[in-house]
Amino acid sequence: MAVRIERIQNDIERINKFNATPEKGITRLTFSEQYQGAIGYVTDELKYIGAKISYCPGGNIKASLAGSDDNGPAVMMGSHLDTVMHGGRFDGVVGVVSALEAARIIVEEKIAHRRPIDIVVFAEEEGARFNWGLLGSSIWTGKLDLTRLSAIKDTDGVTYAEAMVRAGFEVSDASLLEPQKLRAMLEVHIEQGAVLEKRGYRIGLVEAIAGIQHLDITIIGRADHAGTTPMDDRSDALQAAARIITAVEEIAQKIGSNTVATIGRIACEPGQANVIPGRVKFSLDVRNPNKAILDSTVAAINQAVNDICGKRHLGFEIIPLDTAPPVSLSNEILDLMVEKTRERHVEPLRMISGAGHDSALLADVTETGMIFVPSKKGRSHCPQEFTRLEDIGLGCELLLSTVVALAASSG
Ligand code: GLV
Ligand code: MN
Ligand code: MN
Repeated sequence: MAVRIERIQNDIERINKFNATPEKGITRLTFSEQYQGAIGYVTDELKYIGAKISYCPGGNIKASLAGSDDNGPAVMMGSHLDTVMHGGRFDGVVGVVSALEAARIIVEEKIAHRRPIDIVVFAEEEGARFNWGLLGSSIWTGKLDLTRLSAIKDTDGVTYAEAMVRAGFEVSDASLLEPQKLRAMLEVHIEQGAVLEKRGYRIGLVEAIAGIQHLDITIIGRADHAGTTPMDDRSDALQAAARIITAVEEIAQKIGSNTVATIGRIACEPGQANVIPGRVKFSLDVRNPNKAILDSTVAAINQAVNDICGKRHLGFEIIPLDTAPPVSLSNEILDLMVEKTRERHVEPLRMISGAGHDSALLADVTETGMIFVPSKKGRSHCPQEFTRLEDIGLGCELLLSTVVALAASSG
């Protein structure tokens, strides 16, 4: 069952040719022309080995290899192909190409499996187009109602439902993922941090994934003339936003316990040098592996917005967006993967994921496991993202042997 890393390398290169920002990292937004190109490449490869492709609720794609007992629950593996703006070549792609290569080996080597094996590509994992991360898996697992797809829009006002239909999906398909349909879910992913590299490990096995809460915060002030409005007679939305941004950092540092909070996007209106900002909208991304700490961080930030805007007599709006709870992954799968890693004379590191993954939502539906491979200098969500091919190959081998064990067993 030796995986062929030159094929994996070719897959990574072919997928990353579909890129809206050549020379400036990789940008492949969900359902864009580039995204559809990458999906086309992967589905063609999967059709070639005889997998049956289906379009699933939420814009996700599944390719199935029939098992000898085709009515039983499936073993699923995969990841995502969408990227952040100007992102890297490996985030998501590594999990998809590992699943693709594992599927090829299963077919070529005629490896017997009782259970169906499904290769999946989740849509809109990053939330870079529709401002809603893990959207495909949220819909498919029934965490988010299908009707929401007609309300969630990209910056051009195109709804997710419209974009899906244009990309050839049907919105009405209601066959959600349920526990009885699945035996397990496995995802290979780059670590996106520097722990494995610093500590000299080639494989990380994920025990838990941090919870995430995304919010949009809008500060409503009054646009006025920058020259004629005295300093004590202004309703400057950006001055309040600046204080809130500072408070967010202080709150996260004070709460500690792995709390991280980020304001990654800000828009100031009307956005002119000689006009006092009347309206400022910014994003907020808060994460913690503990739900109570995550919730209390969000509450403290809400309070800070209320206090700062109150003092300055400004309006504000806080809109909670996508959320993923902190989750523990399957001990059963973890133990199996530890065994499979050691069979290769490699010692894995058990770790927590600070990044969000579709597997966090799948963990509620089925036994779920994640394999991390090292990220050079921990860089990710940027063009410098890099993972060695040998490490991706090792992650793929581990995925393959774990999936084969799970698909063959009767338990
Ligand atoms: C996904 O990459 C996330 O953690 O935001
Ligand atoms: Mn990812
Ligand atoms: Mn990502």
